[in-house]
Amino acid sequence: MQVVKTKAALKEALKTLRKGHKTVGFVPTMGFLHEGHLSLVKRAKAENDVVVVSVFVNPIQFGPTEDLASYPRDLEKDSMLVEGAGCDLVFAPEPEEMYPDPYMTYVDVIGGLTDKLCGASRPGHFKGVATVVTKLFNLVKPTRAYFGQKDAQQVAVIEQMVADLDMDLEIVPCPIVREADGLALSSRNTYLTTDERKQALVLSQSLAWAKSEIEKGERSAAVLLNGMKNHIEQSPSVEIDYIQLVNARTLESVETLEGTILIALAVKVGKPRLIDNMRLEVK
Ligand code: PAJ
Repeated sequence: MQVVKTKAALKEALKTLRKGHKTVGFVPTMGFLHEGHLSLVKRAKAENDVVVVSVFVNPIQFGPTEDLASYPRDLEKDSMLVEGAGCDLVFAPEPEEMYPDPYMTYVDVIGGLTDKLCGASRPGHFKGVATVVTKLFNLVKPTRAYFGQKDAQQVAVIEQMVADLDMDLEIVPCPIVREADGLALSSRNTYLTTDERKQALVLSQSLAWAKSEIEKGERSAAVLLNGMKNHIEQSPSVEIDYIQLVNARTLESVETLEGTILIALAVKVGKPRLIDNMRLEVK
């Protein structure tokens, strides 16, 4: 497996790997990889001839008060992990390689998909994501690109962007990978103290509670959101950013559950802000 840091080296390496019209599976990441990321790499390996992983902490998707400087990084370990999962090529550019001076062009998915949920408290975040993902798609030219449902809003935004801009690739959403106790894997879990790690279980537990209520017949969003809020607020170090029950495609809030819905939440546990969600078919 090769690790390249420049766009020119990526192009060269891809030329060789792609010979014979091979299919290319692509997994964009910000590194500090865990089993969640590796599940995407393994899926890409199973469905394509060649697998490319990018490791790039994208500065333009972080807000001014967010954790860009402290975001965990370990390219050496990441390279070992992805090689074990079947990756053929890692692209790990420096910010100047992706955003040389002057840099003037952005991709902005406007309106409903980006101004709510995480978009409400992270203005500009999805513009940064859409821009870097477009650039990475143009560089790698994948047949398929793999994204985790852990970031359900990100998947919806990327799918819309690909449709709107006639991008010629398939987006493959992949299931959330969790710890044995339910906590969704995240590079940001490394920020949690032992006590916060315990309290972080309120995210998955409140989703599991909502699921069981829905299975018992509950269809009122207000009742479910209230119950989740009450459960979460019993933990002392947590602060809710949002809990919402939305249509999984449009991300519009729903009052009565019907069709494919998404229950999504973002909660600060101590300093780190964690997200989780669950997609459900409601008859
Ligand atoms: P990052 O947070 O590193 O995540 C990379 C990919 O791994 C995303 O598609 C994310 O949804 C997926 N992922 C993370 N945790 C997961 C889990 N527990 N189970 C399944 N998949 C999981 O998302 C980004 O980076 C960036 O925004 C990026 C798309 C790379 C653009 O910079």
